[in-house]
Amino acid sequence: MPLTRKAYRAAILHSIADPAEVGIEASYEYFEDGLLVVDNGQISALGHASDLLPKLPADIEITHYQDALITPGFIDTHIHLPQTGMVGAYGEQLLDWLNTYTFPCESQFADKAHADEVADIFIKELLRNGTTTALVFGSVHPQSVNSFFEAAQQLDLRMIAGKVMMDRNAPDYLTDTAESSYLESKALIERWHGKGRLHYAVTPRFAPTSTPEQLTLAGQLLTEYPDLYMQTHISENLKEIEWVKELFPERKGYLDVYDHYQLLGERSVFAHGVHLCDDECARLAETGSAISFCPTSNFFLGSGLFNLPMAEKHKLNVGLGTDVGGGTSFSLLQTLNEAYKVMQLQGARLSPFKSLYLATLGGARALRLEDKIGNLQPGTDADFLVLDYNATPLLGYRLKQANNIAEALFVLMTLGDDRTVLQTYAAGNLVHQR
Ligand code: GUN
Ligand code: ZN
Repeated sequence: MPLTRKAYRAAILHSIADPAEVGIEASYEYFEDGLLVVDNGQISALGHASDLLPKLPADIEITHYQDALITPGFIDTHIHLPQTGMVGAYGEQLLDWLNTYTFPCESQFADKAHADEVADIFIKELLRNGTTTALVFGSVHPQSVNSFFEAAQQLDLRMIAGKVMMDRNAPDYLTDTAESSYLESKALIERWHGKGRLHYAVTPRFAPTSTPEQLTLAGQLLTEYPDLYMQTHISENLKEIEWVKELFPERKGYLDVYDHYQLLGERSVFAHGVHLCDDECARLAETGSAISFCPTSNFFLGSGLFNLPMAEKHKLNVGLGTDVGGGTSFSLLQTLNEAYKVMQLQGARLSPFKSLYLATLGGARALRLEDKIGNLQPGTDADFLVLDYNATPLLGYRLKQANNIAEALFVLMTLGDDRTVLQTYAAGNLVHQR
């Protein structure tokens, strides 16, 4: 028996399919008294404790949790590392918010010591909130990505990140050139992509801040390396969309700009998509691209309500994003709380199991990593959480009134936040203890 074999006993819940495709009941597995067995950083068994315990060696170390729920680690499909220091900046919508707050804050990452300091805070914050994988925007400076990957590597986290490419319509102190962005991205890819559990994402900020030459080179990087990610923003704000039409009059619309430069594909994640039309959803789905749904940001920046039912109609891959610092919380539980309200305002519902799916398996599918993360099937990475039913007095009291796991899950997502995350495990290692 390998020394690293351990078992965790608690209520255990994970998504196994999209409720929109298979219905709610077939979308999850729940073990009221479950057991999760971890071998060398991977899950080796999952089931009812009564079935699995007799098959395990008598001396195996078992951690038994009362009043707790084990779930897969959360997956944040859109977040900005260099905006950690500007969450909750007052008063502006997207374009003025970028100029007033975002660009000055990101400029500080020219300093590697600053990048190191914030990367450390940022990763601790992810883990405190139960996020074990994130698709991360760095700043325009390569060192922002180096600092992040250095810190993520030390903890053996599965993370995806890229340096922003931005060669126009931003302050001089924060722009690269088409050529320098290509070369710097390439150097980061060579250094980090596929190293351990790290992956690289080609990261043109959004169409307005890239010249056609830069977008061409971003597309070229994607053809040069297998399995690279691409992340950018799309159709978040009405003024932004008008601006894209002015800058690219020859294109049919916002998505067509990215399509023209060959930035759509199975590892491409577009943040927001609040104002996408039906045809654009169809094209995203056809190319296997994904959308990151960022409800706290879309509320905070006054961007609008994402139409999840339309995305579902097109079988479009959707993950959940905090979009910190446009978003106001690192917590995917709080993000789901807001996602529920987005649906309410559109006369629709977000079931607790769809919510769980969005924060875990849906995110994994958006990132094409469902064979590794987002669920607790044997053979996947042991990235999981222990959620504490008694994290706050109100949560504890409210959960006592819950009659079943659906109610309990919904309450966790409504009242829960970082305090709810008792422990976070990544590759079988305890990486956060409340
Ligand atoms: N569009 C371009 N850059 C950004 C950014 O940093 N945050 C958000 N929310 N939207 C953007
Ligand atoms: Zn963003």
